[in-house]
Amino acid sequence: MRVLAIESSCDESAVAVLDGERGLLAHELYSQVELHRAYGGVVPELASRDHVRRLLPLVRLALEHAGSTPGDIDGVAYTAGPGLIGALLTGASLAASLAYAWGVPAIGVHHLEGHLLAPLLEDEPPPFPHVALLVSGGHTLLIEVGGVGRYRVLGASRDDAAGEAFDKSAKLLGLPYPGGPQLAQLAAGGRPGGVAFPRPMLDRPGLEFSFSGLKTAVLHAVRARPLDEQARADLARGVEEAIVDTLIAKALRALEYTGLTVLVVSGGVSANTRLREQLSAAAGRQGARVYYPRIEFSTDNAAMIAVAGLQRLAAGQREGLAIQARAQWPLESLAPAGI
Ligand code: KG4
Ligand code: ZN
Repeated sequence: MRVLAIESSCDESAVAVLDGERGLLAHELYSQVELHRAYGGVVPELASRDHVRRLLPLVRLALEHAGSTPGDIDGVAYTAGPGLIGALLTGASLAASLAYAWGVPAIGVHHLEGHLLAPLLEDEPPPFPHVALLVSGGHTLLIEVGGVGRYRVLGASRDDAAGEAFDKSAKLLGLPYPGGPQLAQLAAGGRPGGVAFPRPMLDRPGLEFSFSGLKTAVLHAVRARPLDEQARADLARGVEEAIVDTLIAKALRALEYTGLTVLVVSGGVSANTRLREQLSAAAGRQGARVYYPRIEFSTDNAAMIAVAGLQRLAAGQREGLAIQARAQWPLESLAPAGI
């Protein structure tokens, strides 16, 4: 089975072609980062309009790079939520139209399920069951993953997501949007332990996170005195260490709690080098192994939507002619599929 997938939930327009036997044949991505930078964040209406402009050319390009014609495609997957509703609708309506025109089924995919299943694209995919740490711009979740569509949320952020904490701290440090990768870059020149920020909720039992206090602490630190370049780097390092330490402690706690020894880390923040290095080392000491998607599939992409879509189409699930788009969509409401 060969699937074409479309991702348009936020500020990335992406299309991929995945073959059940031959693997990933093409993945194309257009990032709208430049478009939104002047506003310091994603402007939903601009995002929707740009998806309309970008998606169809990306579909053509993906088919060409996959050496495929529409006749080779057995199903169309698209991100049906959660996300910006206008942005989702552009991808969903294009996907539903293509599926109708090509006479193949369409399937709406949960964006977070895409992130969760992205490591299945790697040569050594993680076995089920496992614990997943899903850290993106909008979500910080610890999930027990029994199989495709079998998700039990163990803990979540009570307020800001980890990516949001990176982005907001970066903004306070005067870094351009999107701040996470920029902050990580600045932190590389910072001195370890130079600035100690709070690691919220580490002293309490449980698997919940809270990151909103961090931005307040950063705000105070930034306002306290004029900052030279080294002081900014030290602050960035302090922020990164606080977030990474918290994520690692809670992820290890979730492994202990479930008795599982496989951890998957996905979502945009899983692209963070310090998180990858330190988490793999810490989990290793606990006898656990960590799996990540490759960096380009950590942040938003269509290959991960194709993986999830392929699993669901192969299990016989499809959407009918209706266009599905949901700004909110609880992960635990998904039906199981396949493995
Ligand atoms: O998964 P994603 O691309 O989009 C959402 O579904 O939200 O995640 C984007 C988030 C942003 O907050 C971005 O700043 C963060 O991931 N991010 C990073 C890094 N790369 C992306 N945060 C820290 N270090 C990075 N290297
Ligand atoms: Zn995402």
